[in-house]
Amino acid sequence: LWTPDNIIADSINTIRAQVGNDKVLLGLSGGVDSSVVAALLHRAIGEQLICVFVDNGLLRLGEGDQVMATFARHMGVTVIRVDAEALFLDRLQGVSDPEQKRKIIGNTFIEVFDIEANKINAVNWLAQGTIYPDVIESAGAKSGKAKVIKSHHNVGGLPEHMRLKLVEPLRELFKDEVRRIGIELGLPAEMVYRHPFPGPGLGVRILGEVHREDAETLRRADYIFIEELRRADLYDQVSQAFAVFLPVRSVGVVGDNRQYAHVIALRAVETIDFMTARWAHLPYEFLDLVCRRIVNEVPGVSRVVYDITGKPPGTIEWE
Ligand code: XMP
Repeated sequence: LWTPDNIIADSINTIRAQVGNDKVLLGLSGGVDSSVVAALLHRAIGEQLICVFVDNGLLRLGEGDQVMATFARHMGVTVIRVDAEALFLDRLQGVSDPEQKRKIIGNTFIEVFDIEANKINAVNWLAQGTIYPDVIESAGAKSGKAKVIKSHHNVGGLPEHMRLKLVEPLRELFKDEVRRIGIELGLPAEMVYRHPFPGPGLGVRILGEVHREDAETLRRADYIFIEELRRADLYDQVSQAFAVFLPVRSVGVVGDNRQYAHVIALRAVETIDFMTARWAHLPYEFLDLVCRRIVNEVPGVSRVVYDITGKPPGTIEWE
C-alpha cells in the first residue's frame, strides 16, 4: 500500500542498500523538499548524513536559526551552517539585472557549497530533493529560469570534479506525498506546508541593486505580513505571499516630520500550478492592519501598496 509509512520504510531500505556505510552530503535550504530529504536520510543513515546550510544573506527573518533549531538541535542532524552573506552581497554589488542576479546567486551558492564539500573527508554521495514534477520538467523543454531553479535548488550544476553519485529519494513523489512524509517523519507542519520561496531569495524581491540595509527592511516587513497571515488563519488559504522592496521613495509623516522613505509592496496569490495565479482578495481590514504595523514598526518604510495583478499578465515575483 502507498501510505506515507510504507513509502518511508521502503525508502529507508533503498537508501541503506544504496549508500552502505558511505557519507552523504545534502544542501539544506529550509524548503520543503530538502527538509524532507534531510529527515528521511537522517532516519535511514543517521550520522552518515552531513548537511550544508548556506546563509546567503537573502533569507527570511530568523530562517537560519530556525533551520538549525529544527534539524541540528531537535533532530540531531549534522548541519554545517555557512555564513556567506558578505560574499553574496559583495558579488551582487552594482548588479541590477534580475537574470544576472539569479546567475550570480546560483553560481556563488555552488562555489560555497563546493568549498564546504571539499572540507569533508570522503563523501561519496550527494542527496537532492528532486521530486517527480522536477523530473518531468527537466525531461521537457526548459526555460532559462527553470534551469536556474534546478541548478540552484537541486545543485544540478556542481563542478565535474566532485563526481558524487546521486541519492534522490523523492524522485517518484508528488509534492503532497512529500509533505505527508515530512509530517510522518516529525517535521513541524509549519515547515512542511510552507509557501515556496525562490532560490535567489530576497535577491529578486529587492528590485534592482541589492543592499544589505534594504534586505533588512524587507525581512522585517515580510515577517510582519506572514505573521499576520498566520494569526488571521489566512496563510494556508493563499499559495504564496511575500513583501517586495521597491527602491523608490515616497513622502510620509513621522511624528511632525515629513520624510521620504521606501515603499513596500505586498503580494499574495492563489494558484494550483503557479503557471497562472489570481491575486488573493485579502480582507481590507487585514491589509489595513498589516500596513499599519509595517509603517509603524519598520524604519525606512513610509508606504505600503498591495499588488492586484493576476498572472498573466503579471508574474508572481516582481523580477
Ligand atoms: P513567477 O514569478 O515566474 O514565479 O510567476 C512562479 C514561481 O516560481 C518561483 N520563482 C523562482 N523560484 N528560482 C526559484 O527557485 C527563481 O529564480 C524563481 N523565480 C520565480 C516563484 O516564487 C513562484 O513560486
